[in-house]
Amino acid sequence: MGLFNFILQVVAVLICSYSFVSFAVHGYKIGSNDIPSTLDGPFAPHTAPFDVSLRGNAVDLPDTDPRVRRRVKGFQPEQISVSLSTTYDSVWISWITGEFQISNHDKNITPLDPKSVASVVRYGTSRNPLNHEAKGYSLVYNQLYPFEGLQNYTSGIIHHARLTGLKPDKLYYYRCGDLSIGALSGVYSFKTMPVSSPNSYPKRIAVMGDLGLTYNTSTTINHVISNDPQLALLVGDVTYANLYLTNGTGSDCYSCVYPDSPIHETYQPRWDYWGRFMQPLVSKVPLMVVEGNHEIEKQVENQTFVAYSSRFAFPAKESGSSSTFYYSFNAGGIHFVMLGAYIAYHKSSDQYKWLERDLANVDRSITPWLVAVWHPPWYSSYNAHYREAECMMVAMEELLYSYAVDIVFNGHVHAYERSNRVYNYTLDPCGPVHIVVGDGGNREKMAVVHADEPGNCPDPTTTPDQHIGGFCAFNFHDWPSSRSVLLGQTA
Ligand SMILES: [Fe+2]
Repeated sequence: MGLFNFILQVVAVLICSYSFVSFAVHGYKIGSNDIPSTLDGPFAPHTAPFDVSLRGNAVDLPDTDPRVRRRVKGFQPEQISVSLSTTYDSVWISWITGEFQISNHDKNITPLDPKSVASVVRYGTSRNPLNHEAKGYSLVYNQLYPFEGLQNYTSGIIHHARLTGLKPDKLYYYRCGDLSIGALSGVYSFKTMPVSSPNSYPKRIAVMGDLGLTYNTSTTINHVISNDPQLALLVGDVTYANLYLTNGTGSDCYSCVYPDSPIHETYQPRWDYWGRFMQPLVSKVPLMVVEGNHEIEKQVENQTFVAYSSRFAFPAKESGSSSTFYYSFNAGGIHFVMLGAYIAYHKSSDQYKWLERDLANVDRSITPWLVAVWHPPWYSSYNAHYREAECMMVAMEELLYSYAVDIVFNGHVHAYERSNRVYNYTLDPCGPVHIVVGDGGNREKMAVVHADEPGNCPDPTTTPDQHIGGFCAFNFHDWPSSRSVLLGQTA
């Protein structure tokens, strides 16, 4: 099934006044001399065709799978996860208490009261006693479909608490919950990021995209766990709950699930299944998520991204964005910029102005590496989603290039692909390397068809996506995808 995920090993050497990339796909011996750097490029294109004998048709984990079933009682915490704040001295812990409720649209559901369960984390550098305490906040969200025959969902109580005053590169133990009602979790642990400097980096970073919740997802996550990363990134498309009707019936095909439905439904319990499935990894390894198109999940009053924005904690305020759709953080000597492709990105938008401020504040003598992450790729030779995000590229590529971004990670296209250094469709030693990791294992099909194969050049009128905005690929026929020009490796 191609390469499910990409384990990044960084070695910083200065070039272009900043830095360059030396990375290795898992399987290479890290530190061996046969790993080329991008300074050795540009490389000739190499394509490893998808092996159709592998599990190309991923199958969702059923709700009977023990990994997705509720394993706690009452208001005991579950779906426990860690995510980073902007700097090493702070992290977020998130968890859920109480059971979700789902019922027909004409029956009233009384949501759980978020204030009925406290949001407390006890933590410290030794398992016992846990000397420090953080108090957080809680919320409940609804996914409502006011249509005949559809079902409404209200979540369990979602808790987020921010731990502060942490030391770098240190193991911390924690328990979360509400001791006053006897609902405290077991003891979990995480390791903080190293201090930000050119000489300190997280040991390994797992980068995943388009995960879903299938048996193939399970292969991806087992692979990630076995590689013991210190940080994990998820570049959008999380649970694929929107491939389900509210009655829990699913389909492999996004466009054919809803021929008669008045609104594109979702089955929100899949989010709870996903949170339980991921807990063994993300209760220990911080997970940083950015939104994909499968998180849009439109509901009543045109609300979107409600599950995404409610369930994850983001260092939004800490990084000056006040939005769950874009934010930044440091991990050792790397500054990560997480961008939103499904909200305004044009030059007068809040996101663009925030990005200008954020990039202007990056000190490359402290964080030599600058990595940008968003969901739909700008550079991809696959037919699927071909040049779909061109308007975002037109708006933002110059800004990212002017600050010498080293690497871009994307998903969306269900394949692995890595470019040479590129800017404005031209090989450029100071442009970023673009890496697509959309092969996380979701139930949709893998991307296998390349746009530069005979007869496959996509029709420009089919490429825009209504959620990304506009059609900007005006030089469409001047750039017929061309693996032969730009791309270093596809698989
Ligand atoms: Fe996507």
